[in-house]
Parts: sequence; structure tokens; C-alpha cells
Amino acid sequence: MSGFPIFPGEASTQAVSTDHITAGLTVLAAIIVLVVFGLVVGFAFRYRNGSRAKRGDLPEWVARDVEIGWTAATAFLALFIVWWTIAASLGSLAPQPGAMEIHVLAKQWMWKTEHPNGAREINALHVPMGEPVRLMMTSQDVIHSFYVPQFRIKQDVLPGRYTHTWFEATKLGTFHLFCTQLCGTEHARMVGDVVVMRPEDYARWSAAQPQGDDIAADGASLFHTLGCAGCHLGSAVHAPQLAGLYGKPVQLADGRSVVADDAFIRDMILKPKANVPAGYEPIMPSFSGLVGDDEILALTAYIRSLKDARETRG
Ligand code: CUA
Repeated sequence: MSGFPIFPGEASTQAVSTDHITAGLTVLAAIIVLVVFGLVVGFAFRYRNGSRAKRGDLPEWVARDVEIGWTAATAFLALFIVWWTIAASLGSLAPQPGAMEIHVLAKQWMWKTEHPNGAREINALHVPMGEPVRLMMTSQDVIHSFYVPQFRIKQDVLPGRYTHTWFEATKLGTFHLFCTQLCGTEHARMVGDVVVMRPEDYARWSAAQPQGDDIAADGASLFHTLGCAGCHLGSAVHAPQLAGLYGKPVQLADGRSVVADDAFIRDMILKPKANVPAGYEPIMPSFSGLVGDDEILALTAYIRSLKDARETRG
């Protein structure tokens, strides 16, 4: 499929499976077209005006068995296609264990990316080849969509919530990144480059970035300047301690149980009254309008790092 000139080359593991599906469905459709067209032409010829072909009724059992047979066969085929394509799509949503996490912040009209060590880029993303990379994406304004044709990945990026996708690059080189959601006058210029490097080159590249400071360290200083530490780091106020919280289920006062993930932390910062944990008073103020998406990412990274700290200690 990749040799076919109108197709962009395959440069990720998903590209291969997506192209298998495209090729499979094309072949299947071609077979169906040929069979139907062949029957149309064949019958038109056989039963043409003046031909002596027998036109009597078929025996009852032939009519019935043929009907049951083709209905069952097409139903089975349709279910197979559903299973095949859904399994592939779900695979692109499932988190990859051990994937490198990169934050993507979209805004009119640029892509900002942030690496685990705090390195930041604009309209560019350097990644190592052969390693799964998970993108956690959010938008500062309107809906954008992150699309890398040669990776066959495309995921909408929404304001006010996180969306995820992952890929594993299989080729070295520079690949186009596009925004595929009409997001304003400069939408067509909201493009970038995904640069796939050898893992050792990536390590060298990322160590050499000027923004070597950790996002979690930014988050830690925000945690103090915004006053979070006043309640959440042992004090007279009864507030949840955050060490070891990330990724764990939280029991809420209204009976729901939610997992303390990025989306939950974001909600807690912006709309604390909507998710009061069981056993606590709804006294946390909202930071909506006070913190931007960059700062929420940093705070989340800090809270996640508290989890890591506890695990290494215990
Ligand atoms: Cu962002 Cu189009």
C-alpha cells in the first residue's frame, strides 16, 4: 500500500494496521462489485429478449437455502468488519505501558509540545524511533485536531478536557503535522514537523534543550505560590493529602468513585465544588481564570511526581 503514490508512506506501527484495513476493505468491495456486476451482465444476456432460457420457478428449497446462505454470509462479513475496525481503533486509544508521555497544547494557531524533562517546542515534536509515545492533549481556545498522515493518527484536541493518542514511529525522518479542524483564519498555517530520531540521538537532543527544568518542578513552585500547599501539606485545615493520590480511585461525597487522573485533577482545580471527596467540606476555592492550561499541566505533573516519590520510598 505504501508504494502506491497517492498514499503517504507508512512511518508508525498504526500506519501498517490502518493500511491493512484500507487494503482489505478495498479488495472486499472490489470482489462484491465484480460479483454483482457479473451477475447483472450474465442475467441480462441469459434472459435477453428472445432467448430460450427457462424462466420457470426455482424449487422451494433452492430459493430458501440460497436466501439463508447469503444472508448469513453477509451478516458474518459485516460483523467481521465491525470487529476488525473497532479492535484497531480501540488499540489506538488504549494506554501503552511504559510509553513516554508528551503534553501537547494547541492554540490559535500553533502547537506547543512539552517533553517529560521539561523541554518545550513550538510547531515541532522530536521523538525517538521504536518507542511508544503517548500524547496528552488539550486546547487553550477552540477545537483543533492533531494529524500526522504518515503515522495514520488523527485526534481532536478540545478546550477544557484532555484527549489522548499514542504512536510508535518506525522510520527516521521528518513528518508533517497538520491541524485538521477548521479553527480560524490561520488554520491552514497551523502545521508542524514531527522529527523521528534514533533513541541515542533523541537522548542527546533532549539533554541539550535549554528548557531543561522539570515541569514537575514548575508545578511544585506553583503549588506554593498559588497557596495550595497551605491546606494540602499538613495544616489545621482538613484537606486531602496529595502524595500517592495520582492514579488511585477517590470516593466522592455524592457516592461516585473516580480515578484521580489528569482530567480529575483539572476538574478539582477549576470546579472543586463539583467533585467533593467523601469526608471533606466543600471549602476549596476555584482557580478558574487564575491558572492557565500550562500551569494546570505543571501542577498535574507535580502531583503525579508525588505518587512516584511515595512508590520509590515504599
Ligand atoms: Cu487548529 Cu485548525
